[in-house]
Amino acid sequence: MKNFDAYSKLEELSLEAKQRHLAGLFNTDNDRFKKFNATMEGMVFDYSKQNITAEERNALLELAEQAELKAWIQKLLSGDKVNHTEGRAAGHTFLRDVNNPKPEVCNEWHKMEELVDRLHSKQLRGFSGKAITDVINIGVGGSDLGPLMITHALKGQRNVNAPELHFVSTLDGTQLQRLLKVLSAETTLFIVASKSFTTIDTLSLAKTAREWVEQHSQSEAGTMQHFVGVSTNVPKMQEWGILPDHQLQFWDWVGGRFSLWSAIGLTIAIQQGIAGFKAFLSGGHEMDVHFQEQPFENNIPVLLGLLGVWNINFLQVAGQAILPYDSRLKYLASYLEQLEMESNGKHTDREGGFVDYRTCPILWGEVGPNAQHAFYQLMHQGTERVMADFVLFATPAGKTERHKYHHNLNIANCLAQSRALMIGKTDQDTHKDYPGGQVSNTILLEKLDARHLGMLISLYEHKVFVQSVIWNINPFDQWGVELGKQIALEILEKIEQKDPSEFDASTQGILHSIWDINHEN
Ligand code: F6P
Repeated sequence: MKNFDAYSKLEELSLEAKQRHLAGLFNTDNDRFKKFNATMEGMVFDYSKQNITAEERNALLELAEQAELKAWIQKLLSGDKVNHTEGRAAGHTFLRDVNNPKPEVCNEWHKMEELVDRLHSKQLRGFSGKAITDVINIGVGGSDLGPLMITHALKGQRNVNAPELHFVSTLDGTQLQRLLKVLSAETTLFIVASKSFTTIDTLSLAKTAREWVEQHSQSEAGTMQHFVGVSTNVPKMQEWGILPDHQLQFWDWVGGRFSLWSAIGLTIAIQQGIAGFKAFLSGGHEMDVHFQEQPFENNIPVLLGLLGVWNINFLQVAGQAILPYDSRLKYLASYLEQLEMESNGKHTDREGGFVDYRTCPILWGEVGPNAQHAFYQLMHQGTERVMADFVLFATPAGKTERHKYHHNLNIANCLAQSRALMIGKTDQDTHKDYPGGQVSNTILLEKLDARHLGMLISLYEHKVFVQSVIWNINPFDQWGVELGKQIALEILEKIEQKDPSEFDASTQGILHSIWDINHEN
């Protein structure tokens, strides 16, 4: 990135940008919103509260040109092997092209639809003949976070015949145990969702679930009626005993954190019906078309990505807050933590050299109105520079006057916070002084439904891709998660042998403390 002319230009421009106050940009220009927003049907992207001028934006657009972003977008969308370290395409966009699907994708939609219909019509029955009332998705990371986020957001719009959905991901087992206490084995269906079908988190939980059903059913055949598998690894599903008509497949060209658009999104289809699932896919596809066709100056994912680069690499902003002003988006930040940090949390460029510039920032977030009473203090008066994305819906969640009242209150708070972060407030009493100058974007969506959520998620996927191109890194692998998994297996073995002597003093000390507490030493 540093070799590009635009990089040097941006460095030079940033000297002035670092000196000025964001509020000053508004004081001198009443048309700032008009000049610094981009739109598409159903979405307005306001970036006027970024510390940026038209000249700086143009230099960022030049940077994108020089990094050959246009060609990279083409490569991504045409199925080139952009994930070069694993020799694979990143084909998640193919999953949401509802009017022009690949035959294998269509085939899985049919299988999903059939399962969903059987569930909705109470034809999917357990070992005792009773209809399924509860579905537990067992999966972790990309096999959990996306479907969890979307189904939580759309719970109020669920199909009336849909069974209750539950999500279990943590290998400590407590989430699952809580559910097993209150649910009935006769009427519970488990979805074992795992791209690899080798993840110990998921397989250990699936085994506990299977033992639980078997205790009640007293038969293996009856037990397996309660399990559906979703994976790219059909032989492993088979080996585990998933019945052939309960196996749903996707492909290695779909990354784990991009897999909610595949059969990993089965819970979305169960909750919304297949039409609702396809509305979600269509929303994602609309953003793909926008990404592919819009000139960069009105291209929302391109702008979102470049503004991040401006802040991270030129203005030394280290934190990215995600602040949805709607409690239904409770899991958006967790989802984006994986999407962004697992994708771009890298220090190696495409050629295998170490980068000498910053890449993905630390991203965190919370539902805005709650976060106001938690960590906003740091954003207003702390010592860190932080950039924030506010996500807001234009239409109220319901039709009554009270809905309207809460809606306006919510809008007022969202706008108050982005304004306060921007302008700050000078006070003689330093405890009451706010420096301001904290930058933000506001993503305004028409309403919270499957289609608009599809647009939002696809927007962030493409933002991540744009940044990866500028940083010259591969966003589609995740080698960094392997070491911890490997050490966990080594430690587990030594826990079982009660001999941690080969590990560091901390690891040994903690294990001995645990054994002391349990009188096992
Ligand atoms: O540990 C990281 C990871 O590989 C993620 O990339 C992935 O989403 C998650 O584990 C779960 O993997 P799988 O779907 O193969 O069980």
